[in-house]
This record gives sequence, structure tokens and C-alpha cells, in this order.
Amino acid sequence: MNLFDVKGKTVLITGASRGIGKSMALGFRDAGAIVYGAGSKPESIHWMEKEGIHGVVLDVRSEGSAFEVIGKIKTKHGKLDTLINNAGIATNTPASGFKEDELQNIVQTNYVGVFRNCQAYYKHHKKEGGNIINVASVLGMVGSKLASVYSGTKGAVITLSKALAIEWCNNGYRVNVICPGLIDTDMTDMIKDKEFIMKQVLAGIPMGRLGKPEDILGAAIYLASDSSAYMTGQCIVLDGGLTAQ
Ligand SMILES: NC(=O)c1ccc[n+]([C@@H]2O[C@H](COP(=O)([O-])OP(=O)(O)OC[C@H]3O[C@@H](n4cnc5c(N)ncnc54)[C@H](OP(=O)(O)O)[C@@H]3O)[C@@H](O)[C@H]2O)c1
Repeated sequence: MNLFDVKGKTVLITGASRGIGKSMALGFRDAGAIVYGAGSKPESIHWMEKEGIHGVVLDVRSEGSAFEVIGKIKTKHGKLDTLINNAGIATNTPASGFKEDELQNIVQTNYVGVFRNCQAYYKHHKKEGGNIINVASVLGMVGSKLASVYSGTKGAVITLSKALAIEWCNNGYRVNVICPGLIDTDMTDMIKDKEFIMKQVLAGIPMGRLGKPEDILGAAIYLASDSSAYMTGQCIVLDGGLTAQ
């Protein structure tokens, strides 16, 4: 018996063009799932078809897009088994220096987009039930310099997920969260580029290294599989011990 079986399950992963989302898309494909990988623009998804992943354009800031994409997947396969809201952006802006457009962009992408996607999924699968995995961050659990708005959106995703887990529980939905620590992707270029800061960051991680995108995959497979059938409204933290201190 394979406790972590996701074979034949349909999975939609937002932000699958790069980084953590790409690693999840390839990993779910390898595990036999039918994977839909979303990017924000056509150039982001070109590589997917030859890798056996269905590429879809889905800018999570665009109202109605997720509803359309999920509707098409449901029509083709009967059901979208798991929605992984992974798309996200971060900046390194001091709180006092935030401009309105930067503020709106982070909130729309990291929070409003996640809510809309969850709502669109629920509307399509009220009868069937569903499984949502939201990718937040340890910065949604603890504070850090230069992360004010990002932290706020990720904290909001954690509590949104708990609220939805309870509100939709009777309809057979599960909603859980993955909280990565610092992972080696484009998003952390702003840290990796600065040797002094990178030294400080590594010194603060008990395991002494950044995470790799593949370090997140197992938790996503667990949450998408029936092994986690009794788990909802919870977070899995994968951070090399960062928040254990
Ligand atoms: N890396 C870390 O240290 C870290 C730590 C904790 C949590 N996280 C979270 O993990 C998730 C993935 O991060 P990552 O490090 O893999 O980031 P990444 O390498 O920078 O990739 C970001 C992904 O999000 C997509 N995206 C950005 N804006 C979008 C929009 N408006 N609509 C749709 N897709 C959009 C990008 O698509 P395009 O390629 O089309 O732009 C890309 O696929 C994010 O939610 C992030 O906050 C990351």
C-alpha cells in the first residue's frame, strides 16, 4: 500500500513556472498525478508541455481567471482533486517606504488571489468536496525586518486557511498550509546577492543552509494524499529549525 498515493489525482499548482511551484509540479507528475501548472504569463509556461504538465496562464490578481481555469479542468476530468495556491511575491522594502502600487500588488497577489482561488474552487466543487494547500511562510508566523507587508499577507493566509477549514468542513473540504523557511529560489536572490547578509541569515538557521525547492515537495504530497485525511486547518513548517529557536 502506498500511503502517499496521488496517482491519477488532478492537481492545479499556481506559480508553477519556477522555484517551489516548479519543483512541486515535476514531483507530482513523477508521482503519477495529472498536473496543471499555472504561470502568470504565456512565456512562463512554455516549458511545461514537453515535461508532461498542462500549462495554464493564471494571473492570480485577475478576478474571474481562477474560476474559468478550474471550470475547464472540472469539465475535462470531472474534478480538481487538489488546489495548491503557491504563487507569491516578496520585496525588501522598509515599512516606511512602501508606495501604494507596491502595497496593492503584494496584497492582491499573496492574499486576495489566494482567497479568490479558494472561493472559485469551492464554487465549482460544492458537492464533490476538495483539498486546498496554501503556501504561506514562516514570515507569516514571526516578524522580520523589511518584510512587513509580505509577513502580513502570509499571516493572513494562515488564518484564512484555518477559517475556511472550519467553514467548509461539513462539505468535505480540507484546507492546510505549508510554511517554508528560506528556500533557494529567485525569491531569495535579494538575500543571496549580499554576502554579509547571507552569512547572517545562514548563522540564524540551525541547519546552516537554505532549503531547496525539493525540501517542500514531500509535505505537499502528504497533504494531497489520503494519509492526511484527518488533518485540516493546520500548518506544516519546513525551515531547517529557524522557528524552533
Ligand atoms: N523562497 C522562499 O524563501 C520562500 C519562503 C517562504 C515562502 N515562500 C513562498 O513560496 C511560494 C513560491 O515562492 P518561490 O520562492 O518559488 O518564488 P519564485 O521562485 O519567485 O516564483 C514565484 C512564482 O509565483 C508566480 N507569480 C508571481 N506573481 C504572480 C501572479 N500575479 N499571478 C500568478 N503567478 C504569479 C511566478 O510566476 P511567473 O514566473 O509567471 O512570474 C512564479 O511561478 C510563494 O508564495 C512564496 O511567498 C517562499
